[in-house]
Amino acid sequence: MSLMNIHKGWTASGVAAARTVHRLYDSPVIFDDDAAIHLLSPAERYLCQSKLVFRLLLQRSIREFRPYIFHSFSCQRYAEEQLLRAIGQHKSQYVILGAGFDSFALRRPDLESRVRIFEVDHPQSQQFKQKRIARSPYPVPGNLVFVPVDFEQETLLDGLERSRFDFSQPAFCSWMGTVMYLTQEAVLATLEAMASLAPGSELVFNYASPHGALSNADREMVKDLETTLRHGSASMNAKFLPTELAEKASGLGFDIRAQLDSGDLDERYLAGWEGLRTIPFGHLLHLQVRG
Ligand SMILES: C[S@@+](CC[C@H](N)C(=O)[O-])C[C@H]1O[C@@H](n2cnc3c(N)ncnc32)[C@H](O)[C@@H]1O
Repeated sequence: MSLMNIHKGWTASGVAAARTVHRLYDSPVIFDDDAAIHLLSPAERYLCQSKLVFRLLLQRSIREFRPYIFHSFSCQRYAEEQLLRAIGQHKSQYVILGAGFDSFALRRPDLESRVRIFEVDHPQSQQFKQKRIARSPYPVPGNLVFVPVDFEQETLLDGLERSRFDFSQPAFCSWMGTVMYLTQEAVLATLEAMASLAPGSELVFNYASPHGALSNADREMVKDLETTLRHGSASMNAKFLPTELAEKASGLGFDIRAQLDSGDLDERYLAGWEGLRTIPFGHLLHLQVRG
């Protein structure tokens, strides 16, 4: 199976490959995922691990997509920093929307008794991941609950109601690398559903704003990214203006805990990567359900 599997899960295995390559060849590492490599197929692992093959086949395109890849790493790092803070404050439910090959549950068996993890994802991607976990050295963690949901067909709440989610308790939720693949309607329906979770529940997610005025290099990168996605039967969809999205969230009943644009993410996480910037149209929003 290649890195570009033609179904919903390929974007997820692509992220796992990017994390693997980052850990193997980059310094400083800004998001350290030592489990991602075990979720790759043998062919994908070989492509990443063999220095020569990596240099010949992958290095160039990975370098081109670095602003996008490092946006994803920075946002994921922010989400997990905030998650650990929330767990320290006794939040014991972690909902990962569009979980893909997220490996937090595999990486942190030490938290098994403290947090129940609900991975919400498209049924196709979830089956793909379950097969990969079955072939990995990891057992399925006892605190991991799989919740299959197609956000274009039903809401997050439909999925959580079928699971052992405790609606009386606040949750920490992350929704990374997914909003851009959905329609605007599906994103807003999911936000509305999240707003009905227990007060104090938090949601961290990243999204793209309309590209607006881009430099030539950025425009080329976006074009390449869109072509790559199209080849894999995916496309960049929902885009939001930060002020409008924040207003919408506030109207739905959220307080805004943080709003980070690409400059904020670069300042926080890209120290040591001089000259590199994350995608200028990438944003992160951290919301909390009003009490
Ligand atoms: C790039 S992956 C992101 C994975 C992970 N959150 C990350 O940031 O590494 C995109 C995820 O969006 C999910 N996705 C795309 N369309 C979806 C839909 N209609 N319903 C549910 N999930 C969807 C895919 O299944 C995939 O897991």
